[in-house]
Amino acid sequence: MLFRTAVEEDLDRLLGCVVDESISWAHPERLLSFLENGNYRFDRIWLAVADDGEILARAVWWGFPDGDKPLALDCVYVHPSVSDRADRVGLAAELLRHAHEAYGLAPEYHVFVGNGWRDDPKAAAAIAWRWEAAGRVGLTHELERLRYEWADGPVPEPSDRLVFRGEEDDEAFVEAFRRVAAGTLDFHTRQALATMDPVAQAREDVHDYKSMPGDRSWWRLAYDKSGDLVGVALPSANNGGPVVGYLGVVPEHRGHGYVDDLLAEITRFLAERGVRRIAADTDAGNVPMARAFERAGYRNFAVRLVLSPDPVNA
Ligand SMILES: CC(C)(COP(=O)(O)OP(=O)(O)OC[C@H]1O[C@@H](n2cnc3c(N)ncnc32)[C@H](O)[C@@H]1OP(=O)(O)O)[C@@H](O)C(=O)NCCC(=O)NCCS
Repeated sequence: MLFRTAVEEDLDRLLGCVVDESISWAHPERLLSFLENGNYRFDRIWLAVADDGEILARAVWWGFPDGDKPLALDCVYVHPSVSDRADRVGLAAELLRHAHEAYGLAPEYHVFVGNGWRDDPKAAAAIAWRWEAAGRVGLTHELERLRYEWADGPVPEPSDRLVFRGEEDDEAFVEAFRRVAAGTLDFHTRQALATMDPVAQAREDVHDYKSMPGDRSWWRLAYDKSGDLVGVALPSANNGGPVVGYLGVVPEHRGHGYVDDLLAEITRFLAERGVRRIAADTDAGNVPMARAFERAGYRNFAVRLVLSPDPVNA
């Protein structure tokens, strides 16, 4: 058995790997389009190859096209001939271990799965063996993010209490992001703030949102009638289409339902440009945000399971 990164000559065999287990995976269409746009790279696809050349396992990582490191593990596949569960887990873990050693880091594993996946035997089994393999290489922390979509619903009216303004200076957004991050219920931001200076953390977020396909000129700062900054609203887009990129209310203005005004502005902004579907994610534990999506007519259609290094041991 050889553990190695893929090369272009592997493409046909990469396209032949099929995951049929009721979870998200790097299917041929996704593989081809992401290899083309740079979110996937051959050297960020790791393979376990049998002596006869057959791909027995394949792991695919995602990153920004201009990024210097892979950001998320997107797909773990093991050939159906490896039917014993312990062997599948062992092989997948060994493959991930080789990749992590080469990367010098352990990117998170993201899997999309339907609501109620724990009660769906097929999806639960698909998650269980992968979770065990990921756990063996240190991805032991589990986070569930709720996936929402707005699909061609009524277009909200503009807010009558907030004024939204674009701002060319990135530093204004860095400052707004820094303020909004205080007391957040979002796991990733809290985790980042445990080890990073708040300004550096905000700057990194601004940089990451700028790397998304959504247009930077869409970003808005929100002010109340007295000119006080209330929050930020970022309509954006990812490879899948338009998204609620980010929104937040500064701590001094929380608890007045401004989240509804910010979300309405993002929805309105995109809908007025002809968008018919907007996707969004939030942590299951970010209850004020999840409730706001539901009030605004967004439907929770799936779950994004994120496995990452335990924050205590990371
Ligand atoms: C999520 C967020 C936008 C909610 O804003 P908001 O306008 O205060 O929301 P609401 O007014 O609907 O708040 C509803 C309740 O949740 C409480 N609440 C809101 N944010 C809270 C927080 N971060 N921590 C604890 N409680 C919070 C409010 O005080 C209010 O409580 P009440 O009903 O007892 O008065 C805001 O917390 C925030 O900016 N968080 C940081 C950024 C973030 O998480 N963005 C979403 C990323 S997907």
